[in-house]
Amino acid sequence: MTIATPLSSDVDLFSDETLADPYPQYKALRDLGPAVHLSRHGLWFISRYDQVRSALGDWETFSSGQGIGLNPGFNEAWASALINMDPPAQTEQRKLFTDRLSPRALRPVAESIDQRAEELVDDLVARRTFDAVTDLAQDLPVHVIMDLIGWPQEGRDQLLDMAAGWFDSSGPVCPRTAAAVPKVEALMGFLAEVVTKENLVPGGFGWTMIEAHKAGRIPVEGAIGLLAGYVVAAFDTTISAISSGMWLFARHPEQWDLLRADPSLVPSAFNEIVRVESPIQVFSRVTTRDVDLGEGVVIPSGARVLHSYGAANRDERHFPDPDRFDVTRNPVDHLAFGYGNHGCAGQGLARLEVHAVLKALTARVQRIELTGEPVRALNNITRGFRTLPVRVS
Ligand code: HEM
Repeated sequence: MTIATPLSSDVDLFSDETLADPYPQYKALRDLGPAVHLSRHGLWFISRYDQVRSALGDWETFSSGQGIGLNPGFNEAWASALINMDPPAQTEQRKLFTDRLSPRALRPVAESIDQRAEELVDDLVARRTFDAVTDLAQDLPVHVIMDLIGWPQEGRDQLLDMAAGWFDSSGPVCPRTAAAVPKVEALMGFLAEVVTKENLVPGGFGWTMIEAHKAGRIPVEGAIGLLAGYVVAAFDTTISAISSGMWLFARHPEQWDLLRADPSLVPSAFNEIVRVESPIQVFSRVTTRDVDLGEGVVIPSGARVLHSYGAANRDERHFPDPDRFDVTRNPVDHLAFGYGNHGCAGQGLARLEVHAVLKALTARVQRIELTGEPVRALNNITRGFRTLPVRVS
């Protein structure tokens, strides 16, 4: 990395090399100042915990209304998605999600999530060797979410790849971003077909969206967009949390021993997994006024600012010894779910799923070992694995 001025950097945050291991770059950029201009991307970057949290808590200054993606095509196409709105429109649309994802609304599914996790882990323990991404991490998110949406059985697996494409398609103008666009088009076509066929199960999230459309409350594109939002937000994120957990425990058996000895640490371990390996690494906002971040750094009005949940969660100014994975740390104030008005609407569900998997594993598995080299799924926004071969005993 060469540094042009003290507060500018020409690092490519979206190169294969950086996506595979962004932490050294994050540290260098955090140490440079409270905000750094990334000359190669034409973006400002904030990566310290305090600055990221303050920005997320101040939507009037750091607006999502011009989109949170890094290319105009994405921001135009998804202009009416919840994540790309500011209050009051965002507050209104968010209720459609939070009503269905509140602890009360989720109570009836909690038991079936635990049961599915136990059956799945029983099966994998009998096999001993398996892929922690495709055989373990993908199962609950795909089936639980699809059941909640009321999705027909066919085509569930096809949605995974299409949904991962959505995150990539929000990246900067580059070949990785361009390659994802056909996947997103396929996703929208697929959703439109399911909506038109009207074969969604009555009572589910999908059916409710169609009813809202039929009652004239939202256009059909609105219903499809909301379904897409639900699918993309819920898949790769939770899959990444489960597979990163498996990877971390394979590399830190002493932390697995601690968790097995005291399974009441499961919620703390989950917070620590998503702090150390945040499933969503970056999104962006646009400033609506000049913002003085201290140390002589002022971000001008109208600038696109990339904020990193992943870098903030490893900020040594906030978390002591931040690169150490410690299941007893319980970092409840991590930013992996964001913060403020856009803070993750599905975090209750994500916790139910990942807690269920960890609980089922602690009761049945003594050791998690890697049996081959894991392969990362390089993505502009998310951090996870394509394959993670493991053996359990
Ligand atoms: C470990 C799993 C998950 C992680 C780490 C995660 C992370 C995030 C983050 C960082 C945001 C904030 C975006 C921003 O600041 O602009 C967000 C928003 C959101 N998440 Fe999650 N998420 C997870 C699982 C889920 C699940 C299971 C759902 C269920 C449907 C979900 C639904 C949403 C929705 C609807 C939003 C948009 C909220 C808004 O814009 O008001 N997420 N998530």
